[in-house]
Amino acid sequence: MIYKVARLGHPIVRARCSALPPAELGGADFARFIDDMTDTMREYSGVGLAANQVHAGRRIAVIEVRIETSRSREVDEVPLTVLVNPEIVERSDELVDGWEGCLSVPGLRGLVPRHRSLRVRALGRRGEALDIRAEGYLARIIQHECDHLDGKVYLDRMPELSSLSFTEEFERHATR
Ligand code: NI
Repeated sequence: MIYKVARLGHPIVRARCSALPPAELGGADFARFIDDMTDTMREYSGVGLAANQVHAGRRIAVIEVRIETSRSREVDEVPLTVLVNPEIVERSDELVDGWEGCLSVPGLRGLVPRHRSLRVRALGRRGEALDIRAEGYLARIIQHECDHLDGKVYLDRMPELSSLSFTEEFERHATR
């Protein structure tokens, strides 16, 4: 099933999600929800999706980068990754600017500073403990999705808005 994606202005986008109780992990409902989140992310060519973007206030995100659907340059593929109750436990001091968009803020792109690398702990789709070190584009996506779970969008992380662009203009004019 493809979910309707909540857009900026819907209160759920600004809601702080609650942790998924361990008892809900691994059940049929949970598996179906993850599959539907994945289908929704792929339908809209996203590289990540947080549960509150599909109107569920739980701390769950899915991430996947497929080269053919990615609009970013110089990125690596990322296999489908499910993050349940993710917690970023380490962050590099160094920040790097990169372009982001968001399915809840359709049609726009902006330059956002993010930590270059990080370490995140989470549970996977079968409840297994994940401990992931990421850098670059994957680290950026993880920060973007974890922000969603706290009710934040990338616009909140932009120190100023002069780079904000409509996607069409971005594709024509962006030089970095
Ligand atoms: Ni987003």
